[in-house]
Amino acid sequence: MAQRIVRSHTCGEVKTSDLGKEVTLCGWIAKRRDHGGLVFADLRDRYGITQIVFDPALSRGAEAFEMAGKLRSEHVIWCKGKVRHRPEGMANSKLATGAFEVACSDLVILSEAKTPPFLIEDDVDVAETLRLKYRYLDLRRPSLQRNLMIRHRMLSILRNHLDQHSFLEIETPILYKSTPEGARDFIVPSRLNPGTFYALPQSPQTLKQLLMVSGMDRYYQVARCFRDEDLRADRQPEFSQIDIEASFLDEEAFFPILESAIAKLWKEILGAEIQTPFPRMPYSEAMSRFGSDKPDVRFGLELADLSDVFKESQFQVFKNALASNARGGRGSVRAIVIPGEAEKFSRKDLDDLQAQATTFGAKGLLWIKVQPNGDLQSPAAKFFSETEKAALRERLQLQPGHLLLAIADSKDKVVFDALGALRLAVGTRLGLIPKPGEGKPAFLWVVNFPLLEFDEKENRYYACHHPFTSPRPEFFDDFVNGRNLDKIQAAAYDMVLNGVEIGGGSMRIYRSDVQAAMFRHLGLSPEEAREKFGFFLEALQYGTPPHGGIAFGVDRLSALLCGVGPIRDVMAFPKTQKGHCLMSESPSPVNPDQLAELGIGLTRPAPASHSSGV
Ligand code: AMO
Ligand code: AMP
Repeated sequence: MAQRIVRSHTCGEVKTSDLGKEVTLCGWIAKRRDHGGLVFADLRDRYGITQIVFDPALSRGAEAFEMAGKLRSEHVIWCKGKVRHRPEGMANSKLATGAFEVACSDLVILSEAKTPPFLIEDDVDVAETLRLKYRYLDLRRPSLQRNLMIRHRMLSILRNHLDQHSFLEIETPILYKSTPEGARDFIVPSRLNPGTFYALPQSPQTLKQLLMVSGMDRYYQVARCFRDEDLRADRQPEFSQIDIEASFLDEEAFFPILESAIAKLWKEILGAEIQTPFPRMPYSEAMSRFGSDKPDVRFGLELADLSDVFKESQFQVFKNALASNARGGRGSVRAIVIPGEAEKFSRKDLDDLQAQATTFGAKGLLWIKVQPNGDLQSPAAKFFSETEKAALRERLQLQPGHLLLAIADSKDKVVFDALGALRLAVGTRLGLIPKPGEGKPAFLWVVNFPLLEFDEKENRYYACHHPFTSPRPEFFDDFVNGRNLDKIQAAAYDMVLNGVEIGGGSMRIYRSDVQAAMFRHLGLSPEEAREKFGFFLEALQYGTPPHGGIAFGVDRLSALLCGVGPIRDVMAFPKTQKGHCLMSESPSPVNPDQLAELGIGLTRPAPASHSSGV
């Protein structure tokens, strides 16, 4: 009878109680060592590594020993043998199975492997492009297997948690219509309806709200989202959300469900106690202290507002920035102070920081060093009055060796963005920020976001989140009556961990007068609103419960749980910064017949080859 290819144990399972027993194992050859009279092989699977020894002196061992000569890295085998202790001094304490080995009596080579393009081990130095091209081999590495296992565990804990709180898992379509999340859509032509297109959902936002109109009450989904936007280490064109929506609850009822879910993840996966409730920080405080709406609060270097110190400044840069404030402008001069480190920053370092600041729209970066004798050294020192210098010293408690980095602009937002980024750059450089996976996690909610943002170029308001986000109830009156629009706060919230936005959501508009006011303020006529969101607005007129929700970024959350940096490391098949899948070489040109069938002609042919950086 043919040998059944099944296993009694995985490669991570052999233990003391198996000593002397016959076991069968399957897996990949991670390593083979030929010691003349003996052959050793490390057999690997998802669960671990077990050492197999081939010894011709064993009963029935000669044939297996003979065949073991043919074993190469990544061959797949089945083997049978007795579990025994490794000889004295040969145990490997790094492996769970490191005290044992299996003395092989039967070996079947199930499939042979070509020599892999790189060594399949953690901590080998291989270009990431090569790893992405052979992602299925890369995924054999223990660290990536661990990451995907943690991700699985995370989703399973979240599913259970949400189930316990009466949330229903409901799938929503991928071939759908444009949803307003602020990125570009990926579109899909419809063959059956030439000239028309589906949009892949940027999130199931409208669908989950419609499920509330349907009375589903509590919904969640592990949702695939598609956004055609510029990519970064924490952004992929296709990613997953734990998408949640619920009816008849406010933030006070909703946040504890979410906080306890997160605390459960840290407890069950990392054994860590997380304090709940999480602190809540108003958006305005996050910006003024950290220059960011996702503040990393694990280190200092907080921003200081110096606008009042320099309100009469003779330094043209500061003067210009603050000039329009008397007429309601939003200019400011702000700085971060780096204590005791002035000597560590050379002219070139400061130029580099200035170059970085300009990428955020800043027009420059002013540095001030406090000399050992207390004098202020700076390209602009000669423009500072004695009063200003005294006020600066007093305000920032300046000491010799302090370095001050200041940015002025007629737009507060530019100052925040640039200084917020410099704060992170300097924090990284000085080693103030714990590396991924290290230190205590710092969770917080950012709340009270502005609802609307005025675009001066287009002379109109935009919704900061999306146009279905509700104002906070105390602002309903002003909102509906079009008063103080710049000051109206949204019932929106982001969950932030270690400076990463891991989730975002809001309470939604459910009153038709509030929704109508929103479109009015956004400059959409009723006809335009109907054209853009018609089916959705129609639905809201059939009895809409008060509702709200959130979406967590599954990839970001698992990266933080795994203690890794880029979200690529927790995704099975990620894409590069340019949106390429190096393994399947997509996106790729399609057959002209396919285009013809869809009625599509190309005005720009695809270039002959794509660049292939990560
Ligand atoms: P938002 O756009 O804030 O909200 O997205 C929610 C969370 O999804 C994650 N995320 C991403 N992760 C990887 N790659 C990307 N390109 C990417 N973009 C976003 C982030 C973010 O916090 N429909 C609303 C939610 C709601 O209002 O309920 C939404 O999608 O972690
Ligand atoms: P300038 O008068 O342009 O030579 O600038 C004098 C100094 O001010 C230089 O060190 C500039 O980098 C700096 N600077 C210019 N614009 C700004 C700005 N908007 N904020 C802060 N510093 C600036």
